[in-house]
Amino acid sequence: MFLAVAVALFISCGQQEQKSEMDTFISDLMPQMTIQEKIGQLNLVTPGGGILTGSVVSTDVEDKIKTGRVGGIFGIYGPGNLRQAQQMAVDESRLGIPMIFGADVIHGYKTTFPIPLGISASWDLELIEKTARIAAQEATADGIFWNFSPMVDIARDPRWGRVAEGAGEDPFLGSRVSEAMVRGYQQDDLARENTMMATVKHMALYGASEAGRDYNTVDMSRNRMFNDYLSPYKAAVDAGVGCVMTSFNDVDGIPASGNRWLLTELLREQWGFDGFVVSDYTSVNEMIDHGMGDLKAVSALALKAGLDMDMVGEGFLTTLEKSLEEGKVTEADIDLACRRVLEAKYKLGLFDDPYRYFDASRPEKDILTTENRQAAREVAARTFVLLKNDNQILPLEKSGTVALVGPLADSQNNMLGTWAPTGEHHLAVKVIDGFKNVGGDEVEILYAKGANIVDDPDYAAKINVFGPKVDIDERSPEAMIDEALAVSARADVIVAVVGEASEMSGESGNRTNLDVHEEQKKLIRALAETGKPLVLVLMAGRPLTIEEEVELADAILLTWHPGVEAGNAIADALFGDYNPSGKLTMTFPRNVGQIPLYYAHRNTGRPQAGDEFEKFKTNYLDSPNSPLFPFGYGLSCTTFEYSDVSLSTAAISTDETLEAKVTVTNTGDYDGEEVVQLYIRDVITSITRPVKELKGFQKVFLKAGESKEVSFTLSEEDLKFYNYDLNFVAEPGEFIVFIGTSSDEVKEARFFLE
Ligand code: BGC
Repeated sequence: MFLAVAVALFISCGQQEQKSEMDTFISDLMPQMTIQEKIGQLNLVTPGGGILTGSVVSTDVEDKIKTGRVGGIFGIYGPGNLRQAQQMAVDESRLGIPMIFGADVIHGYKTTFPIPLGISASWDLELIEKTARIAAQEATADGIFWNFSPMVDIARDPRWGRVAEGAGEDPFLGSRVSEAMVRGYQQDDLARENTMMATVKHMALYGASEAGRDYNTVDMSRNRMFNDYLSPYKAAVDAGVGCVMTSFNDVDGIPASGNRWLLTELLREQWGFDGFVVSDYTSVNEMIDHGMGDLKAVSALALKAGLDMDMVGEGFLTTLEKSLEEGKVTEADIDLACRRVLEAKYKLGLFDDPYRYFDASRPEKDILTTENRQAAREVAARTFVLLKNDNQILPLEKSGTVALVGPLADSQNNMLGTWAPTGEHHLAVKVIDGFKNVGGDEVEILYAKGANIVDDPDYAAKINVFGPKVDIDERSPEAMIDEALAVSARADVIVAVVGEASEMSGESGNRTNLDVHEEQKKLIRALAETGKPLVLVLMAGRPLTIEEEVELADAILLTWHPGVEAGNAIADALFGDYNPSGKLTMTFPRNVGQIPLYYAHRNTGRPQAGDEFEKFKTNYLDSPNSPLFPFGYGLSCTTFEYSDVSLSTAAISTDETLEAKVTVTNTGDYDGEEVVQLYIRDVITSITRPVKELKGFQKVFLKAGESKEVSFTLSEEDLKFYNYDLNFVAEPGEFIVFIGTSSDEVKEARFFLE
């Protein structure tokens, strides 16, 4: 114990010392800076190599760098380019302050992993951390050391395209993923050549945009904010995240980028965040359209609120001096923001060596290595969710004839998924090639496209903004279906690869209709009519409404957009080289009218038990309440059986813990992994609480026939929530603990907190 205390003291003394060295360094530097140079540090530009998501594009970048008017750049890549840009700042600007270089490395750098919603469906935190680690290794090799990730916005509305970028609907799971990503990117030392500063985004509540429309208004109670939406951002802060990005939406009536309560009182004073805050792309300027004043007014508002760096909009650069003269902001406000940006640069080691990330020999060694691609393949297979598998049609045998059909079976441009600006489509493995690689010589593959992703050229044009994702065939829809039927007639099994093009989700990829497109539905209906075994491989960036497809197909494997190793990973999962183990992290509704639909809902005063319609209960005339697939759902090619839940004690006091145990048995024919999930319900509470809340999960591997005891420890801490006064408390009384294979297939036991 003495040793532990001594080590802890030593570490904290070391950190103190570093902090005071940093403070001294910056305190020496800042008095040398003019006010323009200080404001220059708050300016983030992009010369256009990234994805332009706003209406402003940076201009005269070189001149601005040389005159000390740029703090950082995003959207340029490669040690050579970045070294050259850095040299401009270091050698040609008056004080030689280095710049930070950022990028959106959302799910891998060049080795593209599945979209984040898919990654979360692995429920494997070590694996998730590893994806971030590999991304950081590759990005830093290419000169990028500041990442606009993780995106941790809780999302309960699948119409919103950006659900693809986050970890789904649940704050507990979302928080664990958030921490894992921050650890993966930053490790414990930002100055290391292969770590990068993470940015948690988008603070806050961006996922609750009304009607699932991007950038739309958000309005929610503090109770809901604190209990359901804020914890993943806080988890990143607790994990030491270096940067926070604001969101486009309002938070309680004030846009996030100008919201002092959010950026200063909550983030810094309550949560203790000590990094810097960057706006989203022109989100400061956008406060003009929110009705908060002209550019000068909104820029002053943002600075006063606690926003430190202005992304692309240059409201800070062009108006803060004037606001200073007019007394709308103080020099201390500017100093504070400038200091925070300089601190980030210090922590990244840039004042020691501004070129530390620009080793020209690294890209070749570190990027797209065989190991990284292998990791991408393994990760992808672990994110797939088996939604249906009647008559054990999966795994497929590595013999016989497969009709491989569908618009995504031979597509390369849709494999990486949304927000993969650094990925390279031409490296992605198509499904048809994965089938050849994994199926081996004994499998004959017959291919037909069968349908377009969409037939409508206007719709296709919106999806093709970042390059061709949808190509519309010259043949008629009927001719394409006929061809698919002809190859199917010669096959033992049909595998149809259908779903969304990658840009049908992601930023500005919102939909009011979540069906598989009608042209693909026609193909699926025709294939089902053949009576041959039909497997659907469903690619999507979000939950889709697939009630009809679930009826028609014998098996459905949901693969999201799987990344650079797409085809290999899909073939691994279909041919039994990997037994699917993913579980949904977002509820699949039956229809759009049920949205928002999520498992952790409140009970209401008139709950309806089950789907049988009862007049004057919480329900619909034209749809059951239940989802098509609940949160936590996902099958395996094997089967798992759960024992009853046993608790180590029937009551705990506030300083005690309780063990909740089940025995899980693999009762099927294949080895496999199962995500064992623990939920609780607080039975009597001072404010209404969810019917179930995830509080733990473990992914366990079981050989066929094997049993394992899985044990969770619960303490008062796990039972806490934000009460009416927003105090984080546990209330004594009865609790139900549920353990099971999904949020709605569980066994339960009860205990008391005394
Ligand atoms: C997105 C951010 C992204 C930024 C920079 C914005 O449009 O909302 O998530 O980090 O662009 O590319």
